[in-house]
Amino acid sequence: METTLVLIKPGGVQRNLIGEIVSRIERRGLKVTGLKLIHAAQETVEAHYAEHRERPFFGSVVSYLVSGPIVALAVTGDNSVKAIRAMMGATNPIDATPGTVRGDLALSIEDNLVHSSSDPEAAAAELALWFPEGTFA
Ligand code: CMP
Repeated sequence: METTLVLIKPGGVQRNLIGEIVSRIERRGLKVTGLKLIHAAQETVEAHYAEHRERPFFGSVVSYLVSGPIVALAVTGDNSVKAIRAMMGATNPIDATPGTVRGDLALSIEDNLVHSSSDPEAAAAELALWFPEGTFA
């Protein structure tokens, strides 16, 4: 069993896609073991995207993530990190396969609807950041 982090970004919440995204995760057989609707603090988002600090889009992705409420999810199941990455689709929705969340519901990289942990190490760090109180995994 593995647990990974998913963030539904402000655009996804605004477009009322929380249910659609959570439903896809649950229908796949993965378990939601943490869930919160929050207005993230700037420092939390900066820590979350620390690896992108030098990239030109760092400022805009951070401002975007703090621009409105987001949903943080902990998702548990066999190979959940890989399963969720595949379900979310390529980072740039233009390259995302139909059938994935981004391939079906998004068009631009700036608003690619969701974030998911890239590997188990990132998942552990991101879960500690977004769920310091722990999860139900
Ligand atoms: P995410 O998986 O949350 O990780 C970093 C985010 O930065 C990414 O999804 C995109 O939403 C955003 N981003 C904006 N521009 C770019 C870019 N040129 N390359 C990668 N990510 C970008």
